Amino acid sequence: MFFEPRKDNHGLPYNPFKACVVPRPIGWITTLSHAGLVNLAPFSISNQLAYDPPFVFFSGSGAIDGEGSEPRRKDSVVNAEDTGEFVYNMATYELRNEVNLSSKHVPPDVDELEMCGLTPASCNLVKCPRVLESPINLECKHHSTLTLPSNSPKGVHHVVIGEVVGIHINEEALTEGKVDWVKIQPLARMGYMDYTHITKVFTMAGPKGEEFRPGQIGEHKDSKHWNRVEEEWDKFKNGK
Ligand SMILES: Cc1cc2nc3c(=O)[nH]c(=O)nc-3n(C[C@H](O)[C@H](O)[C@H](O)COP(=O)(O)O)c2cc1C
Repeated sequence: MFFEPRKDNHGLPYNPFKACVVPRPIGWITTLSHAGLVNLAPFSISNQLAYDPPFVFFSGSGAIDGEGSEPRRKDSVVNAEDTGEFVYNMATYELRNEVNLSSKHVPPDVDELEMCGLTPASCNLVKCPRVLESPINLECKHHSTLTLPSNSPKGVHHVVIGEVVGIHINEEALTEGKVDWVKIQPLARMGYMDYTHITKVFTMAGPKGEEFRPGQIGEHKDSKHWNRVEEEWDKFKNGK
C-alpha cells in the first residue's frame, strides 16, 4: 500500500504513521514554572540529536483548549523556554503507570511529581528537579525551539532542543561499568496504544574491516579503561 499523509488516504482503521517509526524512547520531562511548580510529562517524540556536546529534544504539539481558541504551548514547552532548563528523565517499564498518569492534562498549578507519587531530587546544574525513581536523568539547558506547522487548524509542534550539561546514572543501573538496559528496562512507544520495553539485547560488530571503530563504544583513547575495552573486544571477537 502507499498513501500520502497530507491526503490521509491510507484507508486503514487507524493512521499508521506513528507505528512506522518505532520504538520511540519516552523523554519524561521535568520543568519548573516561573512560580516554582514542578511539571512532569512524557514525550515520545523525543530523542538524542548529537553527542559531542550532547543534545536532546522533545516535541510538544500545540494544544487547542476549546473550539475556536488559539493553540497553546504545552506547559513543558513554556517552562523550558521561560526558565531555560529542563530534565530528560528515562521512562522505564516499572514506572509505566506513573508515566501514563503524568500525561494527564492538568492545570499548570498542579505539582505533577506529587500527583504521581514520585520523589523530586535536586539537580547539580539546573534548578528544576529530576525524578529520583528514574535511573537516568539528563540535566539540560534550553538551546532553541523549532516550530513546525501542523495539519490541525492553527496547530503547531514545538520542538524543544536542550544541551545536556549534566548526567545522573543510578549506580544500580550499571553492570560492570555499562548501562544495563535489561535490568532497567527502558519504556518506549510504538503506535496505537502500544508500548514496548527492552528485555533482550545483542551485540554486533561493524562491517568487515571496520569491526572495531574507535569511539563507537564510547571509550576514550586516553581513558584508564582503554585496556579493558580492548580485552572486551578480544573476548567478543573470539565469541566468548
Ligand atoms: C507515552 C506518551 C507519550 C507522549 N508523547 C507526546 C509527544 O511526543 N508530544 C506531545 O505533544 N504529547 C505527547 N504526549 C501527551 C503529553 O504527555 C500530554 O499532553 C501532557 O499533558 C503534556 O503536559 P504539559 O502540558 O504539562 O507539558 C504523550 C503522552 C504519553 C502517555
